[in-house]
Amino acid sequence: MVDPLKSICEDPLERKWVWISLAMAVVMGVVLGYYAVASNLHPPSNVETIDSSRLHLTEEFAEDNLGVKTNPDGSLTVTLVAARYGFYPPRIEVPVDTQVTFRIASADVLHGVHVPGTNMTTMVVPGYISEVTTTFPRTGEYSLLCNEYCGLGHDSMWSRLVVVPKAAGGQS
Ligand code: CUA
Repeated sequence: MVDPLKSICEDPLERKWVWISLAMAVVMGVVLGYYAVASNLHPPSNVETIDSSRLHLTEEFAEDNLGVKTNPDGSLTVTLVAARYGFYPPRIEVPVDTQVTFRIASADVLHGVHVPGTNMTTMVVPGYISEVTTTFPRTGEYSLLCNEYCGLGHDSMWSRLVVVPKAAGGQS
């Protein structure tokens, strides 16, 4: 069989390594493809749009409706607004080992939400609702930080997430 690389590369040893690196790329591609399909892995793509300038007029993101809600199945939904420079409400309390779905909208520019020490992190893009579902396995007080530069007050844009023992939690 004629090596198709022969026309661009004379050295057999070099061609061998080119083939090995191509094979590695193919193996990685196959592994990624397999797990994407088999485990239904995908980047967050909750393409739900909202008018950021009118959050207060929507039912879900009106000021009185923000915070922690308990769903009929026992899971929680946390509705948050990210705006320069804070998250509203500024303190949320959720029980440990409980499925929590965050629904977050920005009222102005691009923000991020990151809770160090947990797997909770997402961007909050104006015009879209960011949705993340997670479970917090350890009790304690966490900071909920903005991790996308959003202006001069970016450094002070953070709020509290308190993970409490199971029986006590559920209210914000
Ligand atoms: Cu909001 Cu940085």
